[in-house]
Amino acid sequence: MKNVMVWTGAGQIGMAIARRMGCGMKIVVGDKKLENAQTIAKIMNDAGYDVVPLEMDLSSRASIRGLIAEAQQFGDITMLVNAAGVSPSQAPIEAILKVDLYGTAVLLEEVGKVIAPGGVGVTISSQSGHRMPALTPEQDAQLACTPTEELLELPLLQPKNIRDTLHAYQLAKRCNEKRVMAESVEWGARGARINSISPGIIVTPLAIDEFNGPRGDFYKNMFAKCPAGRPGTADEVANVAELLMSSKGAFITGSDFLIDGGATASYFYGPLKP
Ligand SMILES: NC(=O)c1ccc[n+]([C@@H]2O[C@H](COP(=O)([O-])OP(=O)(O)OC[C@H]3O[C@@H](n4cnc5c(N)ncnc54)[C@H](O)[C@@H]3O)[C@@H](O)[C@H]2O)c1
Repeated sequence: MKNVMVWTGAGQIGMAIARRMGCGMKIVVGDKKLENAQTIAKIMNDAGYDVVPLEMDLSSRASIRGLIAEAQQFGDITMLVNAAGVSPSQAPIEAILKVDLYGTAVLLEEVGKVIAPGGVGVTISSQSGHRMPALTPEQDAQLACTPTEELLELPLLQPKNIRDTLHAYQLAKRCNEKRVMAESVEWGARGARINSISPGIIVTPLAIDEFNGPRGDFYKNMFAKCPAGRPGTADEVANVAELLMSSKGAFITGSDFLIDGGATASYFYGPLKP
């Protein structure tokens, strides 16, 4: 038996983190597109990792439970990397809420029931959650603590209250941060930690879809005018994940880490101000 990493979303950010943290582990990677999981499993297995690809859908509790059950056959689940998601140019409002908001909440809950003592998790949120204006304390508490099956019934998540797919994505990512805070209490009772990382623009297929989508110029302007003056890389996100998931991060849980080259700072107080 090995220690097992459960990893959702066989994309570039997930792979960078899995390569950093998954040496010597059994890594079970689930993706809605099985070929993405298989492709990345082959790349990593050819480089000495032990990766099993599976088809799974983050928006389905049954599918999440299936992934966890498969993972448990190999040993104790000691790590979670949630890097599955859809972006504002890839999906309609309903799908963004179902995958990025509800699915992430269910995954944190279900893995939180079985994570081994000393276990750690990261979920990938987004700078988008930081850019949206503050919600009321009551709305924040609703996003943090509403039972998962009732989340999508919240008034602030009803279609008439959501302007467009970007707004849905911002709400989903704000919710990720709040769920991590609430879940860290549950995970802590098991001796485990959970945090989120909020990347800015990181060059991956998802970001390239954004560059080529209706907000392409907006995104290109964003990284040109942010303090770093460039988009980031998945390996830079993995640097943060390594801190959070290693023993150096032992006192860090229930937190969110913005890594965006200063884009959010510039959006509020610099040349990116709208
Ligand atoms: N790339 C960026 O600029 C950026 C910035 C901020 C946040 N993020 C977030 O990072 C995460 C990973 O994105 P990435 O940039 O590595 O993208 P990516 O396109 O490389 O990978 C995302 C993967 O998620 C999978 N996926 C989509 N819907 C799924 C579902 N319902 N169930 C299971 N898998 C599903 C896709 O098939 C894909 O393989 C996402 O949550 C995204 O919102 C990305």
